[in-house]
Amino acid sequence: MSTHPFPPGFLWGTATSSYQIEGAANEDNRGRSIWDDFCRYKDAITDGSDGSVACDHYHRYRDDVALMKQLGLKAYRFSIAWPRILPEGRGAVNPKGVAFYDRLVDALLTAGIRPFVTLYHWDLPSALNAQGGWTTRDSAGWFADYASVVVRALGDRVKDWITLNEPWCSAYLGYEFGMHAPGYQDKALAARAAHNLLLAHALGLQAIRAAGDAETRVGITLNFEPRLPATDSDEDRQAAEQDFDWQYEGFAEPILTGAYSQRMLDRMAGAADIRAGDLAMIAARNDFIGINCYTATRISAKRGVVYDDDPEFTRMGWAVRPEGLYAILMKLHRATRGRTPLYITENGASFDDQITDGRVHDERRVAYLRAHFAAAHRAIQDGADLRGFFVWSLMDNFEWSFGYQQFFGIVHVDYATQKRTIKDSGYYLRDVIAANAVIEPSGSAM
Ligand code: FCB
Repeated sequence: MSTHPFPPGFLWGTATSSYQIEGAANEDNRGRSIWDDFCRYKDAITDGSDGSVACDHYHRYRDDVALMKQLGLKAYRFSIAWPRILPEGRGAVNPKGVAFYDRLVDALLTAGIRPFVTLYHWDLPSALNAQGGWTTRDSAGWFADYASVVVRALGDRVKDWITLNEPWCSAYLGYEFGMHAPGYQDKALAARAAHNLLLAHALGLQAIRAAGDAETRVGITLNFEPRLPATDSDEDRQAAEQDFDWQYEGFAEPILTGAYSQRMLDRMAGAADIRAGDLAMIAARNDFIGINCYTATRISAKRGVVYDDDPEFTRMGWAVRPEGLYAILMKLHRATRGRTPLYITENGASFDDQITDGRVHDERRVAYLRAHFAAAHRAIQDGADLRGFFVWSLMDNFEWSFGYQQFFGIVHVDYATQKRTIKDSGYYLRDVIAANAVIEPSGSAM
């Protein structure tokens, strides 16, 4: 028997997002999104690809739900494509778009899988981008209106809502570094977008609660890259604690404390349109916080960012440091005084997978997951109110600017045939879920 049991009812799942898996970009009146546009820019996507077909999940969702059932998933986190619901971003609702998510939710519920729905995972309708996108304050209201349309349509069956996925990426990768849609390189626009995304979260929260019922729960998913001290020395600890943590200070801090740090205000340098009352709204209580965490940074007081621990690196070049996941869970536990449930809404790894003997023996991913499950388990032991763990991702998919050259799935996808093959990590997750405990990989009999 394993000595690492999770609490009863712990919610094991996997996560995906609309643009990364759905395909069917031009079907059933779906509007364009900024990712359709961005993929056309020269050199925007490493392999010149786009999400127009992706995993063809739009047509294969029944098979994909059957796969999830086979893996024993308790929950599934997916996102809704705003331009399927509102092709122009606002105004007329597209019934065919709503119908797709209706069918998906029903299929999940029939399979006994709880839907966790993200309203915005980066595919802003192009029509709204033409009106300023996230750089205008109006975007917060557009988002809230869209959220209430969706919650009115699905809220009788979906109880768990995530407003935004990783607004840090939307704002800074999208508007400052030009690495994500809409592909701008303008620090001031990025600062505006960042604050407006927080406003969108705040108004979205209100709209979802108003359109939902007593069981409705709503939160936000943020990305974290925790700072760890290079050694146990006081000076390294202090250096790690005091390092500018842009992801945390840009989003978690205003949400949890109702204020930006002075460093964050300096960084936004008067560009963001912050008005009286905004921060009080942004600090409204969330029913949960979603954590996306893949890696961590080690800081030495004398030498800055260091790799003294000689970490393993994934195909993304991300250092494998499960202790970072533990650290952010405990930090959020303290920051919320244990009053806000936490979910890991994304964690996983891209490695070079090979199909051999019709199987994918992805031992490195299995080891990665095992180590991160153990870190989550330890945080629960130490008091963190962690309710669930969603592995990124259910299947290999369109990894944004890396196209189809990164492989995060626990299910392999052959893009030429759309054949799905459960990887060893998928079977490992299945066994972990069945045991509700961190177990050792069996290595055989999968
Ligand atoms: C996160 C995104 C997700 C996926 C993973 C690898 O930043 O939310 O869509 O790209 O990284």
